[in-house]
Amino acid sequence: MELTVETRPAAEIETGALVGCAFEGDAPIEGALAELDRAAGGALTKLAGSKELTGKWLETTLLHYPQGLKAERLLIVGAGKREKFSHVELRKVAAAAARYLKTRSVKRLAFLSSEDDRSADAAEAIAEGLLLGEYESDKYKSEKKNGGVLDSASLAGWSGAAQSEAEKGLRRGRIIAEGQNFARDLGNEPSNYLTPRVLAHRAEQMARDAKLPIEVLDEKKLAELKMGALLSVAQGSAEPPRLLVLTYTPEKAAAGAPVLGLVGKAVTFDTGGISIKPANAMEEMKFDMCGGAAMLGVMRALIHLKPAIKVIAIVPATENMPGGKAQKPGDVQIAMSGKSIEVINTDAEGRLILSDGLYYARQLGCTHLVDAATLTGAIVVALANVNTGVFGSDPKFTEQVLAASRAAGEKMWPMPLDDEYREMIKSTIADIQNVGSGKGGGASTAAAFLREFTAETPWVHLDIAGTAWLTEAKPWSAKGATGVAVRTCVELAMQLGAGRG
Ligand code: BES
Ligand code: ZN
Ligand code: ZN
Repeated sequence: MELTVETRPAAEIETGALVGCAFEGDAPIEGALAELDRAAGGALTKLAGSKELTGKWLETTLLHYPQGLKAERLLIVGAGKREKFSHVELRKVAAAAARYLKTRSVKRLAFLSSEDDRSADAAEAIAEGLLLGEYESDKYKSEKKNGGVLDSASLAGWSGAAQSEAEKGLRRGRIIAEGQNFARDLGNEPSNYLTPRVLAHRAEQMARDAKLPIEVLDEKKLAELKMGALLSVAQGSAEPPRLLVLTYTPEKAAAGAPVLGLVGKAVTFDTGGISIKPANAMEEMKFDMCGGAAMLGVMRALIHLKPAIKVIAIVPATENMPGGKAQKPGDVQIAMSGKSIEVINTDAEGRLILSDGLYYARQLGCTHLVDAATLTGAIVVALANVNTGVFGSDPKFTEQVLAASRAAGEKMWPMPLDDEYREMIKSTIADIQNVGSGKGGGASTAAAFLREFTAETPWVHLDIAGTAWLTEAKPWSAKGATGVAVRTCVELAMQLGAGRG
């Protein structure tokens, strides 16, 4: 979709649909809308008077061939209460408008910014929302759904003087949305199309286009590096594992600047292995690579946004299959760090592959680590699909990640990681075991396991098992992979680069 900034008065814009926002309150027709209303001979005031237009959250009111406007349609989207409105809501309103219009086969739209916010950040939220809302995963459908695609959209309401701010925001919004949509594309792929080797090719292609150095370690190299935990998961599959390493180096990094390591779980399909999962809903486990996909999406965005710090993405990729060579419950594996692990349950495979990924990240010189993983069903029990669970070893860094998530509008919530959870993963015959011995606390014992491989390096673990996938479409989003964690990690890298951390 082509995105531009429009400086003509709204009434003059020739487009398929002009989109405006109405706020819930005594007078939903205010600011930029009031101007349109005057041009349209008071049509909106009348609709508000008859309570057809109230400004309630995501209410839609569509007028065809509105009098006095050059646009073919006028769409008013409810923005809810003004006090509750931020760029997070603005992004959703823009996304909902894009989805609403594309189902009606509209090809062009102009999104009118509200009167009092003409910041670059507002333009970013609108551009991002439009691209995220437009996204559809219909690659394997013969007939593309929802009426097709939007060809172009413009950001309207910016004066000539504010145009360059709008363009700055638009560019950032596009970059971040494309990073997310890249991650969503990977997440939506079925596992027969997206094996670890194919994931590596897709990452290589992306990296080549972006001129980003990438290294793909194959099973031979992984064996040389003694990544016993990752290899133990891969041994039950006919598909060989891969480990992807993408490195972004800034032109100038300040001395002593952090090196951010982004580690993402990429199990391209999780059957559970010998501890096999029940058949019901097992197809959902193609999403088990969404953490890895998110980190690739982050790198795709960062190469354009150019933070002032070095960022390394490490993505261990494998299937978890119950083949004849598969590891069995009770097996002991030696991780790259040298720690021995008793594998009580082969379905707790994410922590195994991440243990080698995290350790390797430290070897590569990362001073700060963030991992994203669809790690536990327990986090879904605790937080449903509302919040990502956040576990951290360093309170300051954890708070930095949480602050980045708030700025990015991705809901995340801190979870406990007390020493008692570490006690629960002690093994009788090895250093640690891959599931907790006591009852409950599954998300925390999983995090405690990961912590064993991060030593003193500040580290944050994002359990995205509940938030990486939408089972039902929302007004602002298609169902399927969400691309969660991309925006937070991009924001974090930019903030660490700005020295604000
Ligand atoms: N990929 C799953 C986590 C998962 C489960 C995500 C359900 C979404 C829904 C992970 O590899 C897994 O199977 N975890 C097990 C761990 C258990 C065996 C300790 C789980 O959470 O059930
Ligand atoms: Zn599993
Ligand atoms: Zn898994």
